[in-house]
Amino acid sequence: MNRRNFLKVAGTASTQALFAARLHAAEKSGEPSGPGILLRPQAEEPQKPVAANDHIQIALIGAGGQGQYDTRVAASVPGVKVVAAADCYDGRLTHSKELWGQDIQTTRDYREILARKDVDAVVIGTPDHWHRQASIDAMHAGKDVYCEKPMIHLYSDGPAMIEASKSTGRILQIGSQRVSNILYIKAKELLASGAIGKLNMVSAFWDRNSSIGAWNYTVPPDASPETCDWPRFLGTAPKIPFNGEHFFQWRKWKAYGSGVAGDLFVHLFSGTHFITGVDGPTRAMATGGLRFWKDGRDVPDVLLGLFDYPEGFNLSLRVNFVDGGSEGEGFLFAGSEGTMEIAGNALIINRVPREKEPGLMIGSLADAMQKQIREAYRQKYPLVEPTEPTRVGNDRYVVPRDYSDSYDHFKNFFAAVRSRQPVVEDAVFGYRAAGAALLSNLSNEQGKIVRWDPVAMKLT
Ligand SMILES: NC(=O)c1ccc[n+]([C@@H]2O[C@H](COP(=O)([O-])OP(=O)(O)OC[C@H]3O[C@@H](n4cnc5c(N)ncnc54)[C@H](O)[C@@H]3O)[C@@H](O)[C@H]2O)c1
Repeated sequence: MNRRNFLKVAGTASTQALFAARLHAAEKSGEPSGPGILLRPQAEEPQKPVAANDHIQIALIGAGGQGQYDTRVAASVPGVKVVAAADCYDGRLTHSKELWGQDIQTTRDYREILARKDVDAVVIGTPDHWHRQASIDAMHAGKDVYCEKPMIHLYSDGPAMIEASKSTGRILQIGSQRVSNILYIKAKELLASGAIGKLNMVSAFWDRNSSIGAWNYTVPPDASPETCDWPRFLGTAPKIPFNGEHFFQWRKWKAYGSGVAGDLFVHLFSGTHFITGVDGPTRAMATGGLRFWKDGRDVPDVLLGLFDYPEGFNLSLRVNFVDGGSEGEGFLFAGSEGTMEIAGNALIINRVPREKEPGLMIGSLADAMQKQIREAYRQKYPLVEPTEPTRVGNDRYVVPRDYSDSYDHFKNFFAAVRSRQPVVEDAVFGYRAAGAALLSNLSNEQGKIVRWDPVAMKLT
């Protein structure tokens, strides 16, 4: 059996024990995030015991904040081992060894990692402008890829990444972890079962009120052309002299990031597309501006977007980095028979049934006319005793307090690495979410409505 076949056999003896411990912890902590029906994490497939050399060996490319977080979560999935990390800042390579052991390989050049035969999969946590190249290089080197969101930086990245995944047969999962979240899975089920009737509107927002929230991440005092591989970081971005803020706060510039649309709208699109099962919007208009964080960045800190879906609903999105109240994010799905809200770790269904009779608006008419209308109305709509209680009120579902959708997203990814079955968030899903999100930047920059074919995944 070769290494990859071994992996297909899957799992380690400790898988069930670890999962049981996790489930136990979730149950013990009890404690949902509030009153409501507690959703349980998905049960894991029973696994056959296999030897230690059947671990999926992973490497990290882009060992910054999210890459390190992802890799910690990935390594907590049974049967996964970290063997290498690549990054352009030496301090993060040092910390990678502190996290995963002095024996892991660290390098500034991810191609050294890709050349290793014993690396099965990579986690890509680079800035957006490197997602395409790093993913394609990894897939061509025979690695499966977990690439952070947004999948694309430029529209041309999408078809290239989809094609590479197809032609190499490699698994490519994108990192909008919400699509593996048990709360979102419940929301999808409820919507499909008609819990809120026919969907007509989705609103979602992400408000922040802090400097870190506005991407002013700490620049370490040793940041320099010696400790940072600046040319490699720049990649295809315009060549400018070393700039620590560009390196550590790259989201603030279009050359590396995709603004609030690529950073946050994309999560809201992934959630909307997953729950509703649709491909994407056909028309978008967005407006916004740089209102507060005028620190040299070239992207808005406030953005509003409106999107038309051919299935007959509208989506409205908001990101506000200058929200003087509390920070927060949420979704509201409005249907003909109720609403479904996602607020933090809770999913709330509200239903207030419409009156069965149309009602009268006659108070301003002459008394005789009011009487005549009322009598005719009661003949047409006789008073009836309700035969069953009117269904008013709400259902609330919650997840355990220590629930991690990132864990489930990685668990799904590694299950696909072993089984070679499709992942929940493949390149097509990732492109449809990121392609839709970036419509907002186009519309805002061009000051006009922009159009997208979500099936063909093309600007029209
Ligand atoms: N899924 C989520 O909830 C979530 C949350 C945060 C960030 N993200 C995504 O994760 C990605 C990284 O964000 P971050 O906040 O961790 O950024 P970061 O700046 O903390 O880390 C990025 C790292 O990539 C390294 N890098 C740049 N070019 C590289 C290259 N060619 N080879 C190897 N390393 C390279 C940099 O040196 C840096 O350390 C972004 O795409 C972001 O959108 C996702």
